[in-house]
Formats: sequence, C-alpha cells, structure tokens
Amino acid sequence: MARLVTEWVNVTNDITIIARESGEVWFRTRNDTKEGVDPFATPMTGGGATGSTIRLLDGAINLGFAGIEKRLARPDLTPAGYVVALVGAYHTSVDTPRNLRRAAKRFQELGRPEVAAYLEVRAREETGHDRLALKDLRALGVPGERLVASFIPKGIKPLCKRFDDLCVEDYPIGCIGYSYCLERIAALKQKTDIEKVQALCPDGVDATRFLRSHSCLGSEVSHVEETIEFVASLPANDRISVVQETYRSALIMAEGYNHELLKSEAEMLKELRQAVGEPLPSIAPSHGKNLDARPAA
Ligand SMILES: [Fe+2]
Ligand SMILES: [Fe+2]
Repeated sequence: MARLVTEWVNVTNDITIIARESGEVWFRTRNDTKEGVDPFATPMTGGGATGSTIRLLDGAINLGFAGIEKRLARPDLTPAGYVVALVGAYHTSVDTPRNLRRAAKRFQELGRPEVAAYLEVRAREETGHDRLALKDLRALGVPGERLVASFIPKGIKPLCKRFDDLCVEDYPIGCIGYSYCLERIAALKQKTDIEKVQALCPDGVDATRFLRSHSCLGSEVSHVEETIEFVASLPANDRISVVQETYRSALIMAEGYNHELLKSEAEMLKELRQAVGEPLPSIAPSHGKNLDARPAA
C-alpha cells in the first residue's frame, strides 16, 4: 500500500504546520520538540498531494486570522460598510490580470511554462471583475468611478501593495499564495451573506454582482479547487513558498479587517463623502432616507 503523503511548512520562527493526506493537520511549536529530535526541522522535499496541500494552505489562513476577534471576522453589515467593501473589491481586482500576466512572463523566462500557463488562465478568469464592483456601486446610485479614483480604504492599501510587490519579484511564486488567500476567503461567503446584502438594497436593485461571483455560488469555488490541485503538483520548495505567502497575506488581510471594521458607520460615511465630494444617496430600502442620515453604528 502506498504511504500517505505528509507535508510541512515552517510559517513563523517557531510554528510549523504539518498536514497528512488523510486530513489531519496540526500546528507544531518549537516547544513541542522533545530533546532536540524534530523530524520537521528541515524543509520538506517530497511530492505534494491535494489532501495535505489544502490543509497546509487553509492552516496558514487560519493562523493568520487567529488574532482577529470572531465579531470582526463576521461583522454586521451596514450600508456604508458595504460601499467601502465594494471599493476594496475594486482595488483588489483592478490590477490582478496585469499583475498575474507579469508574473507569468517571468516564469516563461525562467523556463517554467506550466506555472506561466496556470497564471495566464488565472489572469483571463479575473479579467473584468473590477467592473463588477463598479456596476454594483452604480446600481446603488454611488458614483463608482469617482469614488474609486479618489479613495482606497486604508486597510486595503497594504494588501494591494503586497500583490504588486509579489508579482514583480525575480521568482514570483508568492503571488499564488496571495491569490489563494483572497479567493479562499471569498469562497466561504454563503448564499445567506448575499441575501443580507440584498435585504439592504432598495427593491429591484442588484448590487451583488461582485459578491455573487466571489462567493460559494460563483467562480471562486472552481478557482480555489484548481489552485489547490496546481499547488499540490509543484515541487516542495514552491509549495513551501506558496504556503508561507498565504500566511503573510492572511496576516495583512486580518490587520486590514481590524482597521476597517473598527470604524464606526459615521467614520466610514465621512470618508466616503469626502472622497465623492457630496452626500451619498440612500441605499437602505424603504426609508427613503439619505445614506448620510443613518445614525452612527
Ligand atoms: Fe475575482
Ligand atoms: Fe477568482
């Protein structure tokens, strides 16, 4: 009988994620090592398997988000919060095709056509997603183009910079870890999350194009599945780099969440109003009130 694959990646100075193909995963700290005997002290060198690779990747995300409060991980939805989220969605998707193509070109130069081909497909699949966010903003009566041109949520900025930086590295394999982190988290969004947004919108307004496509109902699910399979097929060094970057991206994302979600509705509205230069229209159903008239959260 073939032996089950075990994979491991050291993600911080003293935490190593270990995963078995059969599904077990655990986080090992340096203190767990008895009398200096540690079979996981040296980097893994063997082949991967989807069953263990997915657990390394998801373990890295969980570890990155471990510091964030549960309340913040699933915040109550507010109209201003949703507009800010759409602006963030625009900024995290507008440069994705260009960035992925740049990384693909580099892998072509490096003699890794299989990585280049994977990134090219991703670039094609992600094309136009920024426009979904703009359409949603427009559907809400918000001047989307004007808003995104002058406003990038502070919590989103470091994430965009991280992706830009990763894609121009000499060996840009980390961009796969970043993308996995964002797509995996998006794919966790459920039908009920979309329904909550719909309930927030005026009757007949569809402002959930981006959300639907980046949820368990959209293309994100197959993107995640394809990425897991692809990462599992990579050599050990690449898998290690991808998992390490998934962890770093999750940390940056968690920090951004903290920053944005700790803001009150009033603070968010102020930022949005300043960016657009005028009060925002109502996006709450039935009240006919201006969005600006909503009480602070
Ligand atoms: Fe996308
Ligand atoms: Fe995607």
